[in-house]
Amino acid sequence: MQKTGSLPLPSADALEASSRLSEHIGEAIDAAGGWLGFDRYMSMALYAPGLGYYSGGAAKFGRDVRDGSDFVTAPELTPFFARTVARQVGQWLAEGLDAVMEFGAGTGRLAADLLTALEQQGQLPRRYTIVELSGELRERQQRTLAERAPHLADRVQWLDALPAAFDGVVIGNEVLDAMPVRLYARQRGLWHERGVAHADLSPDANVGARFAYADRPLPSQDIPAVLAAIPGDHDVITETHAEAEGFMRSVGAMLGKGAVLLIDYGFPAAEYYHPQRTGGTLMCHYRHHAHPDPFLYPGLQDITAHVNFSGIALAAVEAGLTVAGFASQARFLMNAGITELLMTLDPADAASFLPAANAVQKLLSEAEMGELFKVIALTRGLDDSLPAGFRAGDRSYTL
Ligand SMILES: C[S@@+](CC[C@H](N)C(=O)[O-])C[C@H]1O[C@@H](n2cnc3c(N)ncnc32)[C@H](O)[C@@H]1O
Repeated sequence: MQKTGSLPLPSADALEASSRLSEHIGEAIDAAGGWLGFDRYMSMALYAPGLGYYSGGAAKFGRDVRDGSDFVTAPELTPFFARTVARQVGQWLAEGLDAVMEFGAGTGRLAADLLTALEQQGQLPRRYTIVELSGELRERQQRTLAERAPHLADRVQWLDALPAAFDGVVIGNEVLDAMPVRLYARQRGLWHERGVAHADLSPDANVGARFAYADRPLPSQDIPAVLAAIPGDHDVITETHAEAEGFMRSVGAMLGKGAVLLIDYGFPAAEYYHPQRTGGTLMCHYRHHAHPDPFLYPGLQDITAHVNFSGIALAAVEAGLTVAGFASQARFLMNAGITELLMTLDPADAASFLPAANAVQKLLSEAEMGELFKVIALTRGLDDSLPAGFRAGDRSYTL
């Protein structure tokens, strides 16, 4: 169990909200007979109405611990991310499309900066739709658009579910990693599903210690094929991603003509389920501190898992889409022209050039976001030449 000693303590109000969410989770565990699948726990911890991490009032996105935030994403780091993505989006819009849809738009930075860049490219879409589950984030997005792109804000509309049909470009940055996963543990050669139960409460337990992992043996017919294929009988912990794959199928069913661009951390299946990857990828973020304990402050911290991009590609292909490219974030951004865009700043103007160059370096560096983050493009009904962002270093063959 993660010790919280060195981490900033939540406010009394935040602790009270976490405690209320824990009550609901506890009731769900009881209603399920004492054991809840991890996917249901993660879904409640992140999305329970009004109390989940994304549906409640946590600050979430920001640059450092002083603003009460927990992590930073690429669009928050620098507008050069959105400007570069705009080049790829522009290539697709030029094929007779005039709408963009963004999933899980965070603070609204990507929306504001992408619209601004598309306007500068002379490719402003008629409509920009944000699909957002959280009312609190929708308000933040409206504020960001009013501040950063007020003259474009009236093109933006919000939905809380997918429409039946859409033609255009769909984008999602770090959305798939926020979708609930199921956990599995192979112990002494036997597979178990790892769920959540009440923890034994010691008198001095804090709110983070109310729940604990509980493993249930899996009948052999219920072992997912990707797990059954992991060679050896050494201990392994890993995840499966039915929700993200279901989401991909729904997006595929919705898309008439257009492209889907998803950016996230993860690997192809051969790497994800490699026998040497024994600890799984579940990770939690609280005040810019990454740690593995999902039971710390339910509702006040982010819980994520890496993406199995092979599963996403398969779900997309099953829905009739074509895999148009798969590359590391560094490759994608360089192919799409991030360095040329950066060089529009004057290197002699250190005050603006250096922070921008630092942020771009973070997006590209192998040691930071450049290699772990991947970009996948899925299309239907578009010109089948390779999209600009995948011109060199396309790794679709690894999926
Ligand atoms: C890690 S945040 C990323 C936010 C933003 N895209 C960024 O890059 O800063 C994950 C977001 O995905 C959203 N999300 C998760 N599942 C979703 C779904 N099925 N539809 C739309 N948004 C979803 C969450 O509500 C959250 O806003």
